[in-house]
Amino acid sequence: MLPSDLDRSRIPNHIACVMDGNGRWAEQRGLPRTDGHTAGEQALFEVLDGADELGVEWFTVYAFSTENWRRPVDEVQFLLRFNEEILLGRQKELHERNIRIRFIGRRDRRVPRRLVRRMDEAAVLTRGNTGLTFTIAFNYGGRAELVDAVQRIVDGGAKRITERTIARHLYDPEMPDPDLVIRTSGEYRISNFLLWELAYSELVFSDALWPDFRREHLYAAIKEFQDRDRRYGGVAGPDEPDG
Ligand code: FPP
Repeated sequence: MLPSDLDRSRIPNHIACVMDGNGRWAEQRGLPRTDGHTAGEQALFEVLDGADELGVEWFTVYAFSTENWRRPVDEVQFLLRFNEEILLGRQKELHERNIRIRFIGRRDRRVPRRLVRRMDEAAVLTRGNTGLTFTIAFNYGGRAELVDAVQRIVDGGAKRITERTIARHLYDPEMPDPDLVIRTSGEYRISNFLLWELAYSELVFSDALWPDFRREHLYAAIKEFQDRDRRYGGVAGPDEPDG
């Protein structure tokens, strides 16, 4: 099952995914775009399983961006309900698997109260779990996260700001920086995802559309990660960023 060429001692600690291509997957089949999101759910939980089995400790997905409000109103409504249904349908199973669910993103008035409640319930239910941490970026934007962090620092009256000050004011200060970021569907962009956190992440781009993304694609991305030489701006591949 596991490719023998993966080095089990160098599995990325934190993998973050931009699950792109759901709409195109559906359009290619003459289906409504929303069917692509539905198919994307299966891919998400298969890849999450695969990551968990490999011992990945943090797995983060971009579920809804601060820019996604610009989509047609029907699609936005669908995505809000879809996220709520996934939370309702999957939280028990994730809890039984000792997975901790967390959220990052802005909780502004556009996010329905009921969805906010569901997010809180899922986070509270699973907060004591000690397995993989599954972070869902919802109404998330990297610039918004930095603006919100800086605003809170200013509100707190800080006089001197270091990188640690900013890191401590991000949506989840405990979340380690991603080691590996995967974006599907052949698009080579960051799209406002984890702008601060991915300063030293390895980026792997896959041509697969998200609903077609499977464990094998995850393994291939990890293999590509392991074949890279992470230098963090230095020369000899140190263990820690030198920034
Ligand atoms: C991008 O495809 C995908 C999304 C905007 C949403 C993906 C969300 C999920 C699979 C569910 C996540 C939910 C939880 C609760 C974890 P796109 O529509 O941009 O595709 P396109 O680029 O082909 O148009």
